Amino acid sequence: MSPERPLRVAVVGSGPAGFYAAGQLLAADPPVEVDMFDRLPTPWGLVRLGVAPDHPNIKAVSRVFERIAQRPGFRFFGNVEIGRDLDHDDLASAYDAVLYAVGAQADRRMGIPGEDLPGSWPATAFVAWYNGHPDYHGIPFDLSARRAVVVGNGNVAVDVARMLALTPEELASTDTADDAIAAIVEGGIEEIVVLGRRGPAQAAFTTPELIELTELAGADLIVDPADLELDPASAAALEDDTAIARRNVEVLREAAARPPQGRPKAVRLRFCVSPVAILGDGRVEAVEVVHNELVSDDRGRITAVPGGTREVIECGLVLRSVGYRGVPLPGVPFDERTCTIPNRGGRVVGADGAVLPGLYCAGWIKRGPSGVIGTNKKDAAETVELLLEDARAGTLPRASGGDVAELLAARGVAAVSHAGWQAIDARERALGEEQGRPRVKLCRWDELLGAARAVESGGRALLP
Ligand SMILES: Cc1cc2nc3c(=O)[nH]c(=O)nc-3n(C[C@H](O)[C@H](O)[C@H](O)COP(=O)(O)OP(=O)(O)OC[C@H]3O[C@@H](n4cnc5c(N)ncnc54)[C@H](O)[C@@H]3O)c2cc1C
Ligand SMILES: NC(=O)c1ccc[n+]([C@@H]2O[C@H](COP(=O)([O-])OP(=O)(O)OC[C@H]3O[C@@H](n4cnc5c(N)ncnc54)[C@H](OP(=O)(O)O)[C@@H]3O)[C@@H](O)[C@H]2O)c1
Repeated sequence: MSPERPLRVAVVGSGPAGFYAAGQLLAADPPVEVDMFDRLPTPWGLVRLGVAPDHPNIKAVSRVFERIAQRPGFRFFGNVEIGRDLDHDDLASAYDAVLYAVGAQADRRMGIPGEDLPGSWPATAFVAWYNGHPDYHGIPFDLSARRAVVVGNGNVAVDVARMLALTPEELASTDTADDAIAAIVEGGIEEIVVLGRRGPAQAAFTTPELIELTELAGADLIVDPADLELDPASAAALEDDTAIARRNVEVLREAAARPPQGRPKAVRLRFCVSPVAILGDGRVEAVEVVHNELVSDDRGRITAVPGGTREVIECGLVLRSVGYRGVPLPGVPFDERTCTIPNRGGRVVGADGAVLPGLYCAGWIKRGPSGVIGTNKKDAAETVELLLEDARAGTLPRASGGDVAELLAARGVAAVSHAGWQAIDARERALGEEQGRPRVKLCRWDELLGAARAVESGGRALLP
């Protein structure tokens, strides 16, 4: 590291990976200056716009992020998209190192006929909509059908199924976007069918999230006991498998043994079924599924193999929750197979496998779209450790350009500073207080930028 001035690092993305990386950089000795960029005027990534609104305790991790943002040497540049407002070369010349923590911004496709029929949505869009993401405001989610089908067996599938099943009272105390509350409360959905392509012992959801489905005020959890008769491979795997799979199967068995309580809605978990087509004349009317058999492959992984039986499940809404997907950034290497930035421990590598000096990544764009918030702390620490090691070894290219704030102003980009975000935050919390909710989210770009602009002052403002 150079004695004459602190190291300057750009962190792109203000989700958990970006904030944990920033915190570790700011705590380094000697401390590092961090500028954090996000394409949204609001920070926190999926903590604000992914984590389910009825899980306020999880969202409370944002307090850690806010403490990081208060440290000397930190600046936030919201409403700045890398690839649109600034490109990688701009960052590379203004900073000694650039760390990408841009998450996974798209959805994985299923590749079946009818996937794009109106009424079939990626869960990514539904989640962003109910969380008040400004890009998804005003999407006409039609929740008037009697039955919805959720494809996938991960925690996101559980989140979206649960959100559809919440009662007006359960929704009222959350920061769910107002449009979404109205649509869920006024919609007609009575049954939410969740489809797992493999068996209950292979489900990706975790036990506390499954237990929540058994405790819903307005919906019964329905599981067919026949679906819980394990094939020999699953039964054997369960013997030496993780505690999660064993606990999941126990909870499912308890749920299957319990008679329905007559609640107004039902969440029905189905296993060993894969959608082969989404059917409908101009919009979703049904999902055609094939019943699978489970077989162990040569590496001992239990996989689903389609059998001969097919079934048509009528429904008016399909939410495809089969995983998120990273997208490439112009000028930054990208692995099309894994949809991640190719890297070794967070050091980005080029097409020839050689490390690209000064270029790093962390979080979902580094390792793929899996893992909970805390997973990103360890992941970011690995990257930051290597970055600091490179700084000490003198292998980082030294920044030669000026301050990006000037560059952004010259380009007419109205960046939102941390003070601007705090103004948005204060406005949302004040609106929430009136209604006994943690916040009422501003869900439109103009509202968000307007709230930020209203208080930018005293030279801290980056907005014109
Ligand atoms: C629906 C859902 C619910 C979840 N619920 C939980 C939960 O309850 N508990 C839990 O522990 N984990 C949960 N997770 C997992 C957790 O959210 C992730 O592990 C974590 O958010 C990944 O962090 P990240 O920083 O890599 O990405 P993200 O959180 O996605 O952050 C990426 C950030 O980069 C920004 N960005 C993207 N592209 C650009 C660009 N070109 N220029 C500038 N900025 C850009 C985005 O706007 C975003 O703010 C959930 C995940 C999902 C999808
Ligand atoms: N409360 C929480 O802690 C919480 C909440 C939400 C998300 N998260 C975390 O965020 C991460 C992402 O969650 P996620 O649910 O998006 O991903 P995930 O855990 O990877 O689950 C994806 C699911 O989709 C299924 N799937 C994939 N392709 C499919 C296809 N073509 N047809 C049918 N099913 C298909 C997978 O089945 P296979 O297993 O057969 O591949 C799996 O059940 C996870 O680590 C999750 O734990 C945590």
